[in-house]
Amino acid sequence: MMPELRYAFAPMEGVTGKILRELHAAYFPGVDRYCMPFMTPTDVHKLTDRQLRALDPGPLGIDRLLPQVLTRSAEDFLWFASAIAGLGYREVNLNLGCPSGTVVSKGRGAGMLRDPDALDRFLDQIFRASPIAVSVKTRIGLEEPAEFGPILQVLARYPIRELTVHPRTRREMYTGGVHLDAFAEAVRVISVPLCYNGNLFSPESVFLLRERFPSVSSVMIGRGLLADPALVTRCRGGERSRETLISFHNALCAAYLERLHPNQGALPKLKEIWAMLSLLFADDGSWKRMRKCKTWPEFYPLTQQLLYTGTLLPEADFSRQNQSDAIPRPNPETNA
Ligand SMILES: Cc1cc2nc3c(=O)[nH]c(=O)nc-3n(C[C@H](O)[C@H](O)[C@H](O)COP(=O)(O)O)c2cc1C
Repeated sequence: MMPELRYAFAPMEGVTGKILRELHAAYFPGVDRYCMPFMTPTDVHKLTDRQLRALDPGPLGIDRLLPQVLTRSAEDFLWFASAIAGLGYREVNLNLGCPSGTVVSKGRGAGMLRDPDALDRFLDQIFRASPIAVSVKTRIGLEEPAEFGPILQVLARYPIRELTVHPRTRREMYTGGVHLDAFAEAVRVISVPLCYNGNLFSPESVFLLRERFPSVSSVMIGRGLLADPALVTRCRGGERSRETLISFHNALCAAYLERLHPNQGALPKLKEIWAMLSLLFADDGSWKRMRKCKTWPEFYPLTQQLLYTGTLLPEADFSRQNQSDAIPRPNPETNA
C-alpha cells in the first residue's frame, strides 16, 4: 500500500508569515507542515527580534514548522542550525531555489546551483557538523534543465532529510510549465524522501502527480493554497465552504490591522493574497479594481463584496494569473 501523502505549505516570503500560517491551520485542516520563508543569518550571529518572533512556534508546535535558511556560507549555516536547535527545532531547510536577482548575484539561493563542485564542498561541511537534520529545497538549474544531472549527482551523496524539487530553472522564475521529466530524473537518482513542488492547483493535479510518481512522499503547495486555502483540506476529502473562507479572510485582516499600518502594511499583504484568491471567483473585474486601491477603506469593501456575492469556481482559474502579481522580493525581513 502507498504510504499516506504528506502536504506542506510552501514558504512565500512576505506572504506566509506567522499570522497567515497560524490562521490557515486554524481554519483549514490537513497541512502537515508549514515551511517558513527564508531567513538570512546576520553577520553578528544573533537572531533578530523579528526572526525570533517568526520562530516562536505558537499553536502550530515545532514539529509542524520548518525554518529555512538562505546562505552560501557553511559557517553561517551551522550557526543558524545551532541557534534554531537551541529553540527546539530538529530540522532546517536549505534554500537552493530563490531566483531573485539580488540573491542569485550573491551566489545564494538558486545561485548555489551554478557550480556543483562548490555546492558539494558546502554540503560536505554542513552535513559533517549540523546539529539537526538538514532538508533541501532546490530548482533544477540556473538556465537549462540539462544542468540538473550534475546537481543531482551531488545531492545524491548526502543524507538529506527530505529533498523538495521545484522543477523549473532560475530563468523560468514561476512561469510556464514545470519539467516533470527533470523531476522523474530525481525520482530515479535520489534515494532520500522526495517532495514535489510546483503548479499544484487542484486536487486532481495532486492525484495525477501521485499516480505518475507513487514513491513521492510529500507535495508542497504555494500559490494553489493562497488561491484556494481549502485545497489540501479538499485533497484529504474535506470541503470548501464560503463561510470558512470569509471567516479566515476576515480574521487575517483583523490580525494584520492589529500589527501593521492599514495602507502601508496590511494593504500590500492582502493584495498579494488576493492576486491568487481572486482566481477562485469568476472574473467580475473586482481584482482589477482591488489592485488599483491605494487605501484600506477603498480596498476592504471590495473584498467583502467578492467574498459574499462572487461566484465561487470549482477550482481556482490559474489561466488568469498575471505573472507580475506575485514575485518573490529579496527582502527576507517581512515575516509578519
Ligand atoms: C511571493 C513568493 C515568495 C516566495 N518565497 C520563498 C521563500 O522564502 N523560500 C522558498 O524556498 N521559496 C519561496 N518561494 C517559492 C515557493 O515556495 C514555491 O516554490 C513556488 O511558489 C512554486 O510552488 P507553487 O507552484 O505551488 O506556488 C516564493 C514564491 C513566491 C511566489
